[in-house]
Amino acid sequence: MKRIAVLLSGRGSNFEAIAESVRAGRIPDAELTIVVSNRESAGGIEKARQRGIEAVVIPSKGKQREEYDREVVALLKEKKIDLVCLAGFMRLLSPYFVQEFRHRILNIHPALLPSFPGLEAQKQALEWGVKFSGCTVHLVDEHLDAGPIICQAVVPVEDGDTEETLAARILREEHRIYAEAINIVLSGRYRIEGRRVLRTD
Ligand code: GAR
Repeated sequence: MKRIAVLLSGRGSNFEAIAESVRAGRIPDAELTIVVSNRESAGGIEKARQRGIEAVVIPSKGKQREEYDREVVALLKEKKIDLVCLAGFMRLLSPYFVQEFRHRILNIHPALLPSFPGLEAQKQALEWGVKFSGCTVHLVDEHLDAGPIICQAVVPVEDGDTEETLAARILREEHRIYAEAINIVLSGRYRIEGRRVLRTD
């Protein structure tokens, strides 16, 4: 049984999608062990508790990056976590964190990376005028929204789109490909060549 931790800072819809995929057996032989948030106000914390999943707030305010990450890593190790899923966790991880969970941290981003990293990716896409955007699940390294790509999904941008309508269309795909990416990584049926993640099944 693989043990998954979700780290989040906000609403937690990706957390819910992962939790639902685990519950329904779409992510087999896994349990969602713990949710960690750096923000007390994160809606995802309440959602986790409602599902009976342990949810812990470790406030990041006023802490140095690595000092904070050491607290989180200690908790994740205590819980024997196999895979860390960032789901709207709005913090860059320190090299310490990345090394402790090398190739065992995933992130989801609401754009086709390497386009539009950082904040407000959907707004960036709209303003740039791209006709297609989407979402990306990738392995996490020390850099922002970087690291080898596991899965992407393409979403068309429509003329009438606002930031909200585009974000909602992308979000549906996020919920789908996060579970797919988790399955690839937990199964171990992939290899990394340079930046490329190649399936071995
Ligand atoms: C998601 O759209 C996720 O892709 C994005 O934050 C949102 C969190 O929503 N993450 C990033 O922008 C990371 N750079 P959620 O709390 O409902 O899952």
